[in-house]
Amino acid sequence: MTERTVPTVTLNNGVTMPQLGLGVWQTKDGQEVEAAVTAAIESGYRLIDTAAVYGNEAGVGRAISASGVPREELFITTKLWNTDQGYDKALAAFDKSLAKLGFDYIDLYLIHWPMDSSERFVDTWRAFEKLYADKKVRAIGVSNFHPHHLDDLMRDTAVVPAVNQIELHPRLPQAELREYGKQHDIQIESWSPIGGSGGDLLHEPALVAIGEKHNKSAAQIVIRWHIQNGLVVIPKSVHADRIAQNIDVFDFELNADDMAAIDAMQTGERTGPDPETANFT
Ligand SMILES: NC(=O)c1ccc[n+]([C@@H]2O[C@H](COP(=O)([O-])OP(=O)(O)OC[C@H]3O[C@@H](n4cnc5c(N)ncnc54)[C@H](OP(=O)(O)O)[C@@H]3O)[C@@H](O)[C@H]2O)c1
Repeated sequence: MTERTVPTVTLNNGVTMPQLGLGVWQTKDGQEVEAAVTAAIESGYRLIDTAAVYGNEAGVGRAISASGVPREELFITTKLWNTDQGYDKALAAFDKSLAKLGFDYIDLYLIHWPMDSSERFVDTWRAFEKLYADKKVRAIGVSNFHPHHLDDLMRDTAVVPAVNQIELHPRLPQAELREYGKQHDIQIESWSPIGGSGGDLLHEPALVAIGEKHNKSAAQIVIRWHIQNGLVVIPKSVHADRIAQNIDVFDFELNADDMAAIDAMQTGERTGPDPETANFT
């Protein structure tokens, strides 16, 4: 498979981030995640999105070490889980993630969920600011934060999050959060970008028809929609052929009618929990 060059976005601190990467939620540690990350790197992916709670940081790290690609050419994201929020707990959790990955720095570290206490996520963010000042992370950000969470965070802390990773796909285009991101220079990154593991988004007849016109799959059409909207997109697959397919989206363009037809799929349906009500630990 030919390596493909993925465009980058420049974050609010000047760090560049690939616009497309591999998500590894629900990918088992060990052989499964190592094979997926290896296939991704061979296809040209340079961004991998993991999290402490996915339980596969060690396998991600092993596949990266074995790839032979210099560490500085890769962009690795991991996330702090909810039970590790708080200043001291966050610093300790970061060290654990770093050790599992086997690196001496992480490119992007995210608070996974805001949960219900702004006091706690502000404390957590102060630990993130220390990790950033100590150059253990190249950028810090959040995930699943709504505007009021971000208002609370930014009122009491110094570093503006570089990224907000949120559920985003044609059925849930998140106009308000994208507008907030533009105003505050916070890059939006789409999770469950092709509708997640249980969804039927890819069977939408309009997507299939646009795909036939461009000789692309429905998944490729949706991934291209994210790219043309300036979003960072991290589709997950454990299949090498799909991993290669999902990055093969840089040799065609959706026109205004295609984009409008995909925009019209908005229903507001979520595939995952709503950050306002999600209160799991
Ligand atoms: N921050 C958060 O709270 C949060 C929450 C959820 C996800 N995420 C991140 O976002 C990533 C992506 O989200 P996601 O895993 O929920 O969903 P997704 O990437 O939208 O969809 C993944 C599903 O689509 C299938 N698939 C992949 N490529 C395909 C293709 N070309 N054709 C048909 N089916 C295809 C996969 O199956 P196979 O694997 O069998 O190919 C899997 O069932 C995650 O892996 C994770 O890194 C973050």
